[in-house]
Formats: sequence, structure tokens, C-alpha cells
Amino acid sequence: MSTPTISTHRPSLPDGAMVLPPTLQLQALLTIIRDEKTQRTSDRIIRLLVEEGLNHLPVVPKTVKTPVGADYEGVSFQGRICGVSIMRAGLRDCCRSATEQPPYLQILIQRDEETVQPKLFYAKLPDDISERYVLLLDPMLATGGSCMKAIEVLLSHGVKEERIIFLNLIAAPEGIHNVCSKFPKLRLITAWVDQGLDNHSYIIPGLGDFGDRYFL
Ligand code: PRP
Ligand code: URA
Repeated sequence: MSTPTISTHRPSLPDGAMVLPPTLQLQALLTIIRDEKTQRTSDRIIRLLVEEGLNHLPVVPKTVKTPVGADYEGVSFQGRICGVSIMRAGLRDCCRSATEQPPYLQILIQRDEETVQPKLFYAKLPDDISERYVLLLDPMLATGGSCMKAIEVLLSHGVKEERIIFLNLIAAPEGIHNVCSKFPKLRLITAWVDQGLDNHSYIIPGLGDFGDRYFL
């Protein structure tokens, strides 16, 4: 058997979209969560995504005094951040710890199993969300319908499109294309781009129904 090497997987992506570096660690983590025999959560990959997302937030200069009395000319984030998860529950803890206690909120959108059209069930968002940078989290990006519906909810609450960073575990090229063409100022960060969709709009190879696997 040949020794595994870092993948040369480099999908071409529209402006505004990027994929995490395909390290062996990332491939090992994806292998665990994709395996039909496992029911493991994806906190570690989501942490990598949140960390990458934070790299795209603007900063302003900030000078602090260190314990030895010297000045350190550093930076701090320019605006406040909040994490919004599109799905049932599981991204909460990871997002909370990785972004130093921002408000964590949820928009519940589910695809209709027959039509695959997204349906909004509720949105719990803070009054000042229009002033925040939003890390929008959803593990699966298939047709892009759910993501686009969530972005519309954020925009209708006054969030600026260029202040939304969408974080995603596994994406189909169709979903990336749909989201980026409709929202060209948004930044989309995914851990991996898969081959495409099957006849039921499931991602191939994907990992099946994320919600059913991890939250039931
Ligand atoms: C999954 C996933 C996305 C959506 C992606 O949720 O979390 O929200 O499907 O598909 P799309 O890009 O074609 O819209 P699902 O509707 O299965 O709800 P769940 O939270 O119950 O898993
Ligand atoms: N939603 C999922 O959970 N998985 C898919 O493959 C597509 C949509």
C-alpha cells in the first residue's frame, strides 16, 4: 500500500470562496465523520473553520503594556462578532469557545425531504446583529437553498452582506456556485469540496444526513 500524501485536491472556486488546506489531519478527521460506521461529531474541523473565519475579520491597531512594562503594538478585532448556526444544535460549544464568548444564536431551517426546498422555522437573533460580523455555520452545503435562506434572514435584520462569513464542512460545487453568485460580497469557507449531488440532492460522497447522524 502506498503512503498517503497530502491531497492535490484543489477545486476551482468562485471569488469569495475558499477551501481549507487539504492537510492529512483534515483528511483523517473527514474520514472519521464520513464513515457510515461512526457517529462522531465534527468539532475539530469546525474549530479549524472558525479559526480560518476569524482570519478574515478586520482589525484595528491596539497597543498594550506587557508585564515587563514594554509597549506591544498589536491589533484587536474591529467589530463585534456573533456566531449563528443554521441547524439543530451541534455547533454551539465549538463556536462559543473559538470566538471568545460571542452571542451564539440559531436559525432553524430544514429542507423539505421531497422538494428539497428550505423552510424557515425560527430565527433567534440579537437586536444589535446589524452592527456585527456574523460567522454563519452549517455543516452541509448541497443545493445552497438553506444557506441562501439564512443569508436572506440575516440581510433582512440589517446585517451587511460583506460582514457574513459562511463556514461549512462539506460542500457540493453546485451549492458553492449558487451561494457565491447570489451573494458575491459574502465570504464562504469550506473544509472540503465534494464531487456533486445525487438524484435526491444529497452530497456525494458526503456523509448522509448530518442532522440525523449527529443529533438523533
Ligand atoms: C441539512 C444541512 C443544511 C442543508 C443543506 O439540513 O444542515 O442546512 O441540509 O442542503 P441544501 O444546501 O440543499 O439546502 P437539513 O435540512 O437536513 O436539516 P437538519 O438540521 O434536520 O439536518
Ligand atoms: N443535507 C445533509 O445533511 N446531507 C446532504 O448530503 C445534503 C443535505
